[in-house]
Amino acid sequence: MDFRDAAARDQEEPWCRLADSFVRPRDAGHRPLAYLAGHSLGLCHRGVRSCLERELDAWGRLGIQGYEQATPSWLRYAHDLRPLLAPLLGAHPDEIAVLNSLTVNLHFLLARFYRPTRNRRQILIDKPVFPSDRHALVSQIHWHGGDPATDLVEIGPAPGHSRLDPDVLTEAITAAGERLALVWVGGVNYLTGQKLPLARLARATHAVGASFGVDLAHAIGNVPLALDREGVDFAVWCSYKYLNGGPGAVGGLYVRADPVDGVPPPMLAGWWGHEEKTRFLMGPDFQPEAGALGFAVSNVPVLATAPLWATLPLFAEHSLDRLITRREAVIAFLREQLSLQPVAGLECITPEEPLERGAQLSFRVSPPLPEGADFIRALGSLGVVGDWREPRIHRIAFAPLYNGFTDAVRWHEAMCRLARRGRT
Ligand SMILES: Cc1ncc(COP(=O)(O)O)c(C=O)c1O
Repeated sequence: MDFRDAAARDQEEPWCRLADSFVRPRDAGHRPLAYLAGHSLGLCHRGVRSCLERELDAWGRLGIQGYEQATPSWLRYAHDLRPLLAPLLGAHPDEIAVLNSLTVNLHFLLARFYRPTRNRRQILIDKPVFPSDRHALVSQIHWHGGDPATDLVEIGPAPGHSRLDPDVLTEAITAAGERLALVWVGGVNYLTGQKLPLARLARATHAVGASFGVDLAHAIGNVPLALDREGVDFAVWCSYKYLNGGPGAVGGLYVRADPVDGVPPPMLAGWWGHEEKTRFLMGPDFQPEAGALGFAVSNVPVLATAPLWATLPLFAEHSLDRLITRREAVIAFLREQLSLQPVAGLECITPEEPLERGAQLSFRVSPPLPEGADFIRALGSLGVVGDWREPRIHRIAFAPLYNGFTDAVRWHEAMCRLARRGRT
């Protein structure tokens, strides 16, 4: 398939109209870039502007009355997004809250779920872990007077491998046994793109009496999730990747209705988590709202939440399963191109099996390809946007809402050119 055939396949309806509803960044000559960085920041949907303008208009017209009279009402502005998120998470809306950002939510949930005792104080995590998660976990261990050298157990791939063997992870959980307070993993790993078998890990975690939590930053809107069925106790996500909520968009958290250690009262409270019907009586005592909403602390940042009202309905209109089927056709095509015309210096480290990954493909890069900022600059000059993470990893993603065959062809052609250039 050449560029023209790829473009023709991308014209298929209804996908083409959906992809065209996103604004594409352009180069200096105004040509659209092949944007493959949706795992980092999703593209701007054209409907976002009108959602923002609607709230600006309501603010101007209604002032404080917007909390009651704006549509949707600002009082429930984030809460009312929960039914749109529930199918993406495989959860009940009452188990979801839309608020804060990922690391902040992780701290709030750790305040509830990490309550170490003398004997049960270890946290087990997968490697490579996103640094912010590790910072949060280590600081919580310190906060409880523990020592990360003994209280943090990190399980990574075997030396020389990129894939983390779920058997090894499960065995480590079982071996930690009653010393384990909780397990925290990435649903889809931020660096390698590997998707972990959550149900299996949750079962092993519960068997030793610990809680199971998941970072869904790279999973939500990317892979099908069934948190209730899989036995996840708690989870957090951000909305600026596959949910296309915009830079720093409001994230969310999930708390199972019946987690392994009982129904959860939030440990850290604020007025937005107080039960809604009596919140404005302004009483001194905290009465938490039922379910995950009890974890809300502050009032809703309406303008930072507005884009989600444009983008979450897209997942209701276009089934994620169908979008994934199309994305898999694009990824299979790209893999075929790479086997017909391999790129020197490029080794894919993401599992090939679709059940073990999502939209992201990660590649280890070596000469003749350039590295770091030079690599990204050279790729950009050929009209392609991806990213670079140490150690020498190039990440791209085929976001199911807007990336197609043309993006795959452009990336592959650009990589071949970079390798040829590096050899001369
Ligand atoms: C896997 C993962 N965890 C945590 C974070 C941190 O997110 P936030 O800045 O919203 O706290 C990110 C950000 O990209 C991430 O990719």
